[in-house]
Amino acid sequence: MTDKAGTTAGGTTGPARAANAARTAVVWEALQELLSHLGDGPLEIVDAGGGTGGAAVPLAELGHRVTVVEPSPDSLAALERRAAESGVVVRGVQGETRDLGTLFDKSSADLVLVHNVLEYVDDPAAALQDVVGITRSGGAVSVLATNAVAGALHRVLAGQVAEAQHLLEDPDGRWGDNDPMPRRFTRGRLQQLLTDSGLAPTSVRGVRVFADVLPGQAWEGDAQTGQNLVDLERAVAQHPEMVGIATQLHVVATRD
Ligand SMILES: C[S@@+](CC[C@H](N)C(=O)[O-])C[C@H]1O[C@@H](n2cnc3c(N)ncnc32)[C@H](O)[C@@H]1O
Repeated sequence: MTDKAGTTAGGTTGPARAANAARTAVVWEALQELLSHLGDGPLEIVDAGGGTGGAAVPLAELGHRVTVVEPSPDSLAALERRAAESGVVVRGVQGETRDLGTLFDKSSADLVLVHNVLEYVDDPAAALQDVVGITRSGGAVSVLATNAVAGALHRVLAGQVAEAQHLLEDPDGRWGDNDPMPRRFTRGRLQQLLTDSGLAPTSVRGVRVFADVLPGQAWEGDAQTGQNLVDLERAVAQHPEMVGIATQLHVVATRD
């Protein structure tokens, strides 16, 4: 897993790939730490809105039993191909967060992932209630969500100052009607949502603190920059101030 996280960011691959490698590295480090706390045996893991299996397949490669609950049939088909190529089995089920309670026994999952999904659900608080319902006592929830503060920063960097102000005042953290992102979260709001749902956040990491603000010309002719960026992202992910400007917030929370 470390290799997947850390070696894909060569400078020749460009900023988008390195930004993705930075994201992967920070989130995987957190998940590895979490998995070691949750126990030795194969864990029951549910990836809610797991998409094409970017997280689910590597978790299955570690020997865990992973189920992806995902509304998109196309994503489920891609997941199946990805799992087959990796030689692992990942169960894919068509459904939404609201279906979790009927798809799984109560308190049955050791770990539930909710990565880049709370932005899209109708009601994030209700979705988290559904997640908590299938998480066992002592189990954990991993939430990755888009940071509103970074959204405002990026609008200013794009020269859209009024949109940045709109975003910060909007309850859903959107910069306007044409904003493709349905919702963004401040760190405080995300932690409050988790606490209100009965979870206890144990760590908050900033994901892509610098990756999305590095000027494009920084990559030109510098094969080392991508790896340097991944190293930097790892180093600052839990920096108490830097977390606040990261593009995404990764919170690990446990259930009593
Ligand atoms: C940005 S993608 C994230 C995919 C994956 N979790 C990842 O981090 O790469 C958002 C995913 O949420 C799914 N989704 C949207 N609404 C959902 C809902 N109500 N319940 C569960 N998944 C949902 C989408 O189909 C999509 O696969």
